[in-house]
Amino acid sequence: LSHNFSSTTSNNNAVQNIAVFGSGLMGAGIVQVAAQNGFKVTMVDLNQEFIDRGKEIINASLKRVAKKQHKDDAAAQKSLIESTWSNIETNTDSVKGAEKADLIIEAIVENLQTKQNLFQQLDKVAKPDAIFASNTSSLPISDIAKATRRLDKFAGLHFFNPVPQMKLVEIIKTNQTSEETYNSLNDVIMKMKKAPVICKDTPGFIVNRLLVPYLMEAIRLVERGEASIKDVDTAMKLGAGMPMGPFELCDFVGLDTLKSIVDGWRKDGKIDASLVASAKSLDNLVESGHFGKKSGKGFHSYS
Ligand code: NAI
Repeated sequence: LSHNFSSTTSNNNAVQNIAVFGSGLMGAGIVQVAAQNGFKVTMVDLNQEFIDRGKEIINASLKRVAKKQHKDDAAAQKSLIESTWSNIETNTDSVKGAEKADLIIEAIVENLQTKQNLFQQLDKVAKPDAIFASNTSSLPISDIAKATRRLDKFAGLHFFNPVPQMKLVEIIKTNQTSEETYNSLNDVIMKMKKAPVICKDTPGFIVNRLLVPYLMEAIRLVERGEASIKDVDTAMKLGAGMPMGPFELCDFVGLDTLKSIVDGWRKDGKIDASLVASAKSLDNLVESGHFGKKSGKGFHSYS
């Protein structure tokens, strides 16, 4: 397996080894999609219990993908599953996990300080030309990148949940991200058979910048007594072609997540205040521990 297959700079630098930090919902999905498409992937988390949970997420999803891709061909299903696993290693040691990576994708907890601490450490042990990417939904990429001395090799790679199903990846270029870094990331996303879009380092990037104010206005509309939750969901599905109504989507995203994004945006004041005004019913649900689908109750109930 030769890697000097072309004389162009971008191919000489082609990413082969990826390390994914965080084996939760997003990290596990990213590991799976990368491994399925031929990248060598190291999945890193804090302890073996988290790693094992990540492996279970991958296992369940991979079985579904294999069944879908190779309907009546058990041998082909088995081969897809085995070849994907053969591309995956795991590590609970962040230094060892990062050593051989050409690209490190971070999908750990949504906390600026925690992400900065991780990247500061990785900056010292990763290959000098390794690219760093964060999957953050709501933190400025340039704030995370600050912890490193490779600002030109730092970008956002924003995947969507569930990663194996959702086609889109937003590539976030800060003012310092180099063209070469962007090209490498674009190449990786294409190889993962995803659709890349490019966006500046601006709150919510493209999707959440438009989606979050829409969801908040749906909540406020119901709070004003103008229509019911059920009718708003029905209206947006049948009248605007949305696959889910806004309240179903709120519950799917997680009400705690939605609230923390809106509260964060309101605090940093970069977005028009009326778009990110709080909503009492959202605050009350979160306060009572009703986070949506994952906790069994949100705007709708799930059993
Ligand atoms: P999660 O809570 O399911 O997983 C996070 C994982 O990171 C946990 O397994 C945790 O043990 C691990 N972790 C924490 N600190 C670590 C460290 N220093 N080194 C290695 N592993 C560490 O979280 P989820 O939902 O997968 O989110 C991860 C990131 O992706 C967050 O930044 C989030 O904003 C972003 N995101 C989430 C989406 C979602 O729909 N859940 C969508 C797009 C982005």
